[in-house]
Amino acid sequence: MDAMDYGSSVTPRALATEAVHAGREDLASLGLHAPPLDLSTTYPSYDARAEAARIDEFATTGARLDGPPVYARLDNPTVARFEEALARLEGAEAAVAFASGMAALTAVLLARASQGLRHVVAVRPLYGCSDHLLDAGLLGTEVTWTDPAGVADAIRPDTGLVMVESPANPTLAEADIRALAHSCGSVPLLVDNTFATPVLQRPVAQGARIVLHSATKYLGGHGDVMGGVVACDEEFARTLRQVRFATGGVLHPLAGYLLLRGLSTLPVRVRAASTTAAELVRRLATDPRIARVHYPRIGGAMIAFEVYGEPHDVIAGVRLITPAVSLGSVDTLIQHPASISHRIVAEGDRRSAGVSDRLLRMSVGLEDVEDLWRDLTQALSAPPVAPLRAAAPAGVPAAAGRPVAAPRPSGR
Ligand SMILES: Cc1ncc(COP(=O)(O)O)c(C=O)c1O
Repeated sequence: MDAMDYGSSVTPRALATEAVHAGREDLASLGLHAPPLDLSTTYPSYDARAEAARIDEFATTGARLDGPPVYARLDNPTVARFEEALARLEGAEAAVAFASGMAALTAVLLARASQGLRHVVAVRPLYGCSDHLLDAGLLGTEVTWTDPAGVADAIRPDTGLVMVESPANPTLAEADIRALAHSCGSVPLLVDNTFATPVLQRPVAQGARIVLHSATKYLGGHGDVMGGVVACDEEFARTLRQVRFATGGVLHPLAGYLLLRGLSTLPVRVRAASTTAAELVRRLATDPRIARVHYPRIGGAMIAFEVYGEPHDVIAGVRLITPAVSLGSVDTLIQHPASISHRIVAEGDRRSAGVSDRLLRMSVGLEDVEDLWRDLTQALSAPPVAPLRAAAPAGVPAAAGRPVAAPRPSGR
């Protein structure tokens, strides 16, 4: 049993059980089975003095209000169910949901900056837009890029955050979270756990203080909802709620409803897709058209591989697999990071982070493995849609993940 521990007073329940019950424990007593969807933007009260006191309380503490939330930018009962469930799955005290993963990261950065801690230490690669947000200093923060071994030395008195993705987008590089948390000392380590999900990895148990998700991906799981969420201790959650109230990056209640529903099948989806991904990795690793395969030690449904040929032809050649950015849906998606997800990162930074121009990233879905392999293998052999560039092998050092070297085809 993959048991989760919430302290001695509570019998630990398995992750699969939490996934379908967390955030819903009161439903039977309410006479309900499906969680209620509360779309209210405002909440009536005939007692303005009491409302003033509750607003003061929220403004000073950031604690969730008892009773109706006054206004939907403070809180929402449907979203709160998703937050409660995600916090439980991550083994964190609290979670705060946002309109997207980028809104969630923005709130974390603003929360730390508002405490006078504007410096961030970050490990590349990160998702392209996270990289851009930090590198461009759009929020008035300053970033020092380093590898995991350099984190301790990069920390300054004004460092508010150390940030890593593990497995990282798109190279699937993994960090030793426990060692990294140790290097951070008193500075909170933020782990973007979007690729692993709490099914494969719970960073809080390894010393991370902040866990971030693009909920748009596996948590929603069906490619039809955008959201972001931060799991952390209640003290930081209070600051995040105050930032969310003031800046407005709230998650829509319908998105909260869909994300809560998504969580209930998260373990089943992630495990099934991971089994298929591992089999595709096994086949790609011995395919003569593939220069290198990246797959994390912890497994998962994300794979990346470098082709000897033209990656754009593979994107143009798929028929069952959808050529699209994003990930974590029930259907398989493939994209070319240098063109799409990491386009916004400067070319030199992208390459030195291991994002080769020949790298393709695939989010494996729930289709049958043989159908996926048939489509992938025909796309890898697809006739070129554009004149072939000189097809030198990528030769990018294995900066990431667990590269599986494939034998080079003879004559190239
Ligand atoms: C690892 C990772 N973190 C954060 C984000 C940003 O999330 P969103 O697109 O929901 O804003 C993404 C988006 O692709 C991502 O892949």
